[in-house]
Amino acid sequence: MTTDTKTRAEVIDGKAFAARIRGRVAEEVARIREEAGLVPGLAVVLVGEDPASQIYVRNKARQTVECGMHSAEHRLEPTTTQAELLELIERLNADPTIHGILVQLPLPGHLDEALVINAIAPEKDVDGFHISNAGRLATGQRAMVPCTPLGCLMLLRDRLGDLSGRSAVVIGRSNIVGKPMAQLLLRDSCTVTIAHSRTANIEEVVSRADIVVAAVGRPAMVKASWIKPGATVIDVGINRVEVPGGKSVVVGDVDFDDVADVAGAITPVPGGVGPMTIACLLANTVTACCRAHGLAEPRDLTA
Ligand code: GUN
Repeated sequence: MTTDTKTRAEVIDGKAFAARIRGRVAEEVARIREEAGLVPGLAVVLVGEDPASQIYVRNKARQTVECGMHSAEHRLEPTTTQAELLELIERLNADPTIHGILVQLPLPGHLDEALVINAIAPEKDVDGFHISNAGRLATGQRAMVPCTPLGCLMLLRDRLGDLSGRSAVVIGRSNIVGKPMAQLLLRDSCTVTIAHSRTANIEEVVSRADIVVAAVGRPAMVKASWIKPGATVIDVGINRVEVPGGKSVVVGDVDFDDVADVAGAITPVPGGVGPMTIACLLANTVTACCRAHGLAEPRDLTA
């Protein structure tokens, strides 16, 4: 008889963690209502009919209301002009019942994404994409922090405690995930490397990391041979791939079954980082409301 002594990685339950965050958001919403007579409000703007975006927007609106907040949905025609969209954003900037504004990306090709995002009042930019929030995060000033990296940071702190001195590799250099993730890890005193499609010897670079965050959008790219034994692996990828039988499944950027034999802990896809993104959006809306009205902000809901 043989005994298999190999231990598998702990699977980080992002779904359960996100449910706890939403519970904390609901508590804070109740406190704000009681102390200040206010209801935090989130406006979500969707231009066009992209099916995936429609699902995201519906989920965001439902969870906003479930936490006791005010949800305003603005669904605009795919032919909406830049001027019309900017006019709506100006109106939401000036609306005292709205504390957070999110413009769902991607926008149709005729709209200038950077111009639109930078028209949002920075203090209402709950996505943390405004150039002012990106700059504030990079320079160590109080910012609105992008939701997906914030969710990853919460999972990492929960598992590892103090991140100080750990080596971290972020795979991917997007403005939405890779760059802000690297900034957050740096702020927590990690030694941070950003790897990307042009990185030489990427396998060797990643294999030095205690913390790996994969956000590249390439299905199952990260293999067990890339991973230092015991490392914590956070998979941000959401890739739809075809499987035999004409069906499709969602997989991450990490080859889960392979990597789980080597890593100390790993997030699954689905059920890992995904649910954390909306939970952090709700948390950011509470934070924005507290800042707008000079109320105490819940420290556990921000970076
Ligand atoms: N599209 C996909 N993810 C996101 C996100 O986090 N925020 C926005 N605004 N659009 C997205």
